Amino acid sequence: MIDLKYIGHSAFQITNGENAVLIDPWVDKNENYNWRDEPIKDILLTHAHGDHIGNCIEIAKGKDVAITAVAELAQWCKEQGVKTKSINLGGWLNYSWGRAVFVPAFHSSSLPDGRYGGCAAGIVFDVEGIRIYHAGDTCLTGEMKTIKELYTPQVAILPIGGNYTMDVEHAAVAAKWLGVKTVIPMHYGTFPEIQADLEQFARLISFNNTACNIINPIGTESNQK
Ligand code: NI
Ligand code: MN
Repeated sequence: MIDLKYIGHSAFQITNGENAVLIDPWVDKNENYNWRDEPIKDILLTHAHGDHIGNCIEIAKGKDVAITAVAELAQWCKEQGVKTKSINLGGWLNYSWGRAVFVPAFHSSSLPDGRYGGCAAGIVFDVEGIRIYHAGDTCLTGEMKTIKELYTPQVAILPIGGNYTMDVEHAAVAAKWLGVKTVIPMHYGTFPEIQADLEQFARLISFNNTACNIINPIGTESNQK
């Protein structure tokens, strides 16, 4: 039995029984989420921007778990005194909760000190046979057609806020190219420049018979469309 929690912005937790993975853990904005109470076994980062590394160092130390990230970002994490798994795009990685593969994302990636953070990534998860694609920060890219061909995800978690990533129109095209049944929008509303019209998004993706599953961050009223 797997459980997917939306913590806020791009932060998600996938739990498989007694093992959970935390993705892009900028979690201190959500007072209804306490990482200390969660069975976190790994932290995976899509890229180095502050709104994605979030509280990763504090959580990795507190839980004594490794951060998996692209080599340059993993090196920076290691210098902060945490365990790391240094990887790059391509190839399945095995974990206690399932497996994951890092895939291309078109975006920049710099660390808080301005250092190069390696290439940005999306991540495809396979947990108990359920394929979930977390796109990270990316524009619309033809790579999504390859992701469908290689991994056929059932669920896509897509940024829709525009400005730094896809907007609602591009995310609707992404949903079509990915051939997914369910889309969970993320990376919107957090900053003034990434506002998004969820009704418009739901309408746009309904044209490809895709369900727009709008999951609000835990602790807020749920709103399913
Ligand atoms: Ni970013
Ligand atoms: Mn971002």
